[in-house]
Amino acid sequence: MKILAIESSCDETAAAIVENGTNILSNVVVSQIDIFAEYGGVIPEVAARSHLEAMMPVVKKALLDASCTWNDIDAIAVTHAPGLLGSLLIGTLTARTLAILHNKPLYAVHHLKSHVYANWLEVTKSKAESSSDTLKAVRPSLWSSDDSALDSSSNLFATPNFPLLALVVSGGHTQILYMPGHNKFEIIGTTHDDAIGECFDKVAKILGLPYPGGPSITRAARGEIEGATRPGDSDKYKLPHPKVEGLDFSFSGLKTAVLRAVQKELGVPISYPSHKLKELLSAEQVCDFAASFQKTAVEILVEKLEMAKREYPETKSVVIAGGVSANQALREALPEAYFPATFLSGDNGAMVAAACYFEILSGVNPVNPYKLNIYPRISIQD
Ligand code: KG4
Ligand code: ZN
Repeated sequence: MKILAIESSCDETAAAIVENGTNILSNVVVSQIDIFAEYGGVIPEVAARSHLEAMMPVVKKALLDASCTWNDIDAIAVTHAPGLLGSLLIGTLTARTLAILHNKPLYAVHHLKSHVYANWLEVTKSKAESSSDTLKAVRPSLWSSDDSALDSSSNLFATPNFPLLALVVSGGHTQILYMPGHNKFEIIGTTHDDAIGECFDKVAKILGLPYPGGPSITRAARGEIEGATRPGDSDKYKLPHPKVEGLDFSFSGLKTAVLRAVQKELGVPISYPSHKLKELLSAEQVCDFAASFQKTAVEILVEKLEMAKREYPETKSVVIAGGVSANQALREALPEAYFPATFLSGDNGAMVAAACYFEILSGVNPVNPYKLNIYPRISIQD
């Protein structure tokens, strides 16, 4: 079964064709990162507008790369929740129209399910290389350092076993999910405030590092920024672990702790405008803060995951999902866990097709293409 999937929930316009939920035939991602690097974050109206421009060329390229025509496609999948309203609208309206036009069943997929199912996608070395080449053209800065992860961190063919724990770490979510089987999700831990990716982005902003914060923080922690002469010292600044009960998370305190530590290091009052702090920081200080923050963030995630494993001793696999799963320090801290290949960690269409395939196997029905709605905030359990 070949599924063509469309993803546009945030700032990536993506389409892919995947066979039987695991075999990537094409995976096209056009990122708006360059646009939002200038703004320091995503502007929803600009994102929707960019999706509109990129969508049809991206879908066409997905068909072309897979050497498919519409006759070869068995179903269309699309992200309908959660995400930015305008962005979701462009993807779903495109998918609805294509489903009606080409008379294909249409499936609506929750974005976090898709991130989890990125772990079922097969990544052969040659395919990964060709796909990453395609992506390198649009997001060179994200690609330079993490390519080696393809050999070591992506589980090339083994698929995760149930019951499993999924740690979802993205720009909008931080959750631990318990999955007794395919397409069954129970949220057992969630953030009370900021998501971990959001925290990376906000800390990067304080340090004057470009959006998106995750890759920028990693580069700074490695000392790979202008003016730096050494990697950051991850023990330089002691940052607190949030005191949140059970398997829940909180990251807004960590962001504030970084802000306070920067103010203290620079000897400025807390009333000092935070957007001006970066002008006072040396490259070495930026690297040390980035390394200390990254180490603490990873420690917090690993701690909660360990706790979850103790609470669910029947767990057979742990999978990591979402944009932050590209993080090399997190990969190194969790050698037993499944991680998607780094080019499948962020938003892409292949993971939507994979999730859709396993939904279909679980008996999920197609939606009415004339009626499909979007749900910007709905939970994975609803
Ligand atoms: O899953 P994603 O692409 O979009 C959402 O669904 O939110 O996640 C985006 C988030 C951003 O906050 C970005 O800073 C973070 O993932 N991210 C990373 C890395 N690459 C992307 N965080 C830490 N380390 C990375 N290497
Ligand atoms: Zn995402």
